[in-house]
Amino acid sequence: MRSVCGAGCLLFCLLPAILRTQAGGEAKPRPPPCQQSPTEVSCRAAGLHSFPKDLPQGVKHLDLSHNLLQNLSESRLPALGQLEHLDLRSNRLEAISGSVLAQLPRLHSLLLGSNRLHQNRQDNAVTFSALQSIEVLDLSANGLESHMVRGSLSGLTTLQVLHLQGNRLRQLPAGIFQGSPRLSELDLSNNYIMDIEEGAFEALRELVVLSLALNSLHCLSSFNLRQLQVLNLSHNALELFGWEEGGGPYLLRVLDLSHNRLLSFPQLPAAHRLVHLNLSHNSITSLDPSSHHPAQFALRYEEMVSFSTSLGTAASLARLAELDLSYNCLQLLPLLFFRAMHSLFTLSVAMNCLQDITMELLTRDGDGDRNGTAVWQENAVLSVRSMDLHGNAIRALPRWFFDALPQLEAIDLGSNSLQPCGSDTGEISGGGSPRAEPCTAFHTIPHLQHLSLRRNSLTQLLPRTFSRTPLLSLDLSENQGLAVPRVALEGLEHSLQQLWLRGNRMDNSGAEIPCLDELRVLDLSGNRLSLLPTGLFCSPLQTLDVSGNQLPALPKQALVGWTRSLQTLCLAGNPFHCCELGWLDALQAAGVQLPDLHCARCIHHSIANRTAPLSSHPPWPCPQPWDGSSVLVLAALLGVLLCAGCRVCWLRGHGMGILLPQPQTDRVAEGRPAQSNTEV
Ligand SMILES: *[C@@H]1O[C@H](CO)[C@@H](O)[C@H](O)[C@H]1NC(C)=O
Ligand SMILES: *[C@@H]1O[C@H](CO)[C@@H](O)[C@H](O)[C@H]1NC(C)=O
Ligand SMILES: *[C@@H]1O[C@H](CO)[C@@H](O)[C@H](O)[C@H]1NC(C)=O
Ligand SMILES: *[C@@H]1O[C@H](CO)[C@@H](O)[C@H](O)[C@H]1NC(C)=O
Ligand SMILES: *[C@@H]1O[C@H](CO)[C@@H](O)[C@H](O)[C@H]1NC(C)=O
Repeated sequence: MRSVCGAGCLLFCLLPAILRTQAGGEAKPRPPPCQQSPTEVSCRAAGLHSFPKDLPQGVKHLDLSHNLLQNLSESRLPALGQLEHLDLRSNRLEAISGSVLAQLPRLHSLLLGSNRLHQNRQDNAVTFSALQSIEVLDLSANGLESHMVRGSLSGLTTLQVLHLQGNRLRQLPAGIFQGSPRLSELDLSNNYIMDIEEGAFEALRELVVLSLALNSLHCLSSFNLRQLQVLNLSHNALELFGWEEGGGPYLLRVLDLSHNRLLSFPQLPAAHRLVHLNLSHNSITSLDPSSHHPAQFALRYEEMVSFSTSLGTAASLARLAELDLSYNCLQLLPLLFFRAMHSLFTLSVAMNCLQDITMELLTRDGDGDRNGTAVWQENAVLSVRSMDLHGNAIRALPRWFFDALPQLEAIDLGSNSLQPCGSDTGEISGGGSPRAEPCTAFHTIPHLQHLSLRRNSLTQLLPRTFSRTPLLSLDLSENQGLAVPRVALEGLEHSLQQLWLRGNRMDNSGAEIPCLDELRVLDLSGNRLSLLPTGLFCSPLQTLDVSGNQLPALPKQALVGWTRSLQTLCLAGNPFHCCELGWLDALQAAGVQLPDLHCARCIHHSIANRTAPLSSHPPWPCPQPWDGSSVLVLAALLGVLLCAGCRVCWLRGHGMGILLPQPQTDRVAEGRPAQSNTEV
């Protein structure tokens, strides 16, 4: 999300803090002793080399993680008959003997992640089978290979959760999990698995959550874990994914296929329970599972209707609520494809190659949507509430696009090439505009509350662009040179709460903001404003960012109005006048937070434009109204100050030229620069 303050000098501000911490962190704290209660002992990071001796008899929960233990041998182990949870993660364990573990009959969970168990040359198989009540076993990051795992898991009939991520497994041979048939959660992520033999998971009839993320899988030949609810296959090399029809339903709810090499939408018949499907970061060019050519998907409207109902996958995904198709290569967005997904709530097609949305809707006579008269069938609407289309090359969205999405509440259209229409432009829009530049109508979208048009190269907004659309937040940032005339935001006076106009390089005339009754958050950072838009003074602002502008001062009267509501103000990067800081006192008196005050600076125009930190009192005196004696005092003071610097020689060479302020400078007038310098 957004940082608290915008354009400011963040790095510059942080640097001293970083240096300070580094300098201060020399004395290494001594390892803390164990924390004890009758049933719980924690010796986390206590520098232990061996198992602690004086443990309470009834301890149930023992944390020995982040120590230096190397070997657990029975001779050193006290009797811990009640122990249920033992955390030995991040030690140097190479060996654990079976007889040690046999002394822990009640152990439910044993965490051995990040040790060196692969170095054990003894028989691991004996090791864990002694754990009669074990339910959770963490063997992650131990350098284990497939054959070692197979041995360790035999006879673990109570085991439910197994962590094997971050090891060196290369293949999963058939029957590898036979010894732990009750597993419900299995994490195999971050290994080198290329090959899963048929029958590898056969024994696992109760498996519910499986992660195979971050492996090297190219294909999954037969997928028949019907009881599985969560499957994570992200970060593999899959080009195809799907399963056969028939043989009962699949219970899968969450399927993560992101970061693979899929070329088309996966074939998922009978995935009736699927709620979350992540297909981001693949190479999908088509939503049609049987086609790899995007052009084939530009079907006529009637064909689309029959196509989408016959298409097994889309039709079966009736519970899908979240679909992520971002970072693929889709050129077309056939809305009808998503229609069968009756529960679809969130759809992302961000960072694809969408250009001309209108291509999709071709009417029977081949006229297409050319004159903007195409209408969306009322019974074919989508249920989507939130849509992300940022990072495409969309030039216009036709009116029927929003008609097809009557529930739409939020849409991100950032980084496209859209131009909004004014509400006067009439209904001609999208591909149907007779003008050279097609525009998109954002007015009268019944439920739209959040709209981003960041980075669309917008230059001009037309009157009432967003009227009769109940917008709460509007992002118009990073449209360099954008002009927002007062009439553009007309219609949002009583609804808009958040407005972003960051990084637009707008000057005073380009930012005319009307009186917005409800505006709480406003970002004006990175522009060229030397005055705040006066319309703002009637908004109950809570957060205001004016950093990186040309403001010489903030208008005190506005601040007085805001002080009741204003909580945070970002202001660094403005040429504030050091001698007109009455507004700053007012803000500080009102308790407004100024997060970037420490890197804000002001300018002494009367002293060769020297800058000083805004947070401290100005080091140089400010000009007073004309008074002979004060000028003498000032002259003396300035003389001393300047001579103290390295300018003594320079001054001599130039015949004692000392810069003095013009006596008439008006300190009271706010917002007016005191510029002229006089040589005495
Ligand atoms: C662990 O310690 C026991 C007893 O001190 C010893 O017999 C055994 O060889 C050690 N094992 C390893 C792998 O160092
Ligand atoms: C899948 O695994 C990756 C890598 O561990 C993780 O970042 C991602 O959040 C997981 N996906 C889901 C849906 O949990
Ligand atoms: C899909 O996966 C990507 C990459 O792993 C992740 O950034 C994104 O948040 C996921 N999408 C959803 C909707 O969870
Ligand atoms: C525009 O749409 C109307 C109404 O469907 C149709 O009769 C007309 O032929 C179209 N005009 C053009 C120029 O395509
Ligand atoms: C101080 O800054 C102002 C405004 O940028 C400029 O016009 C003026 O020449 C500067 N004066 C000196 C002495 O540099």
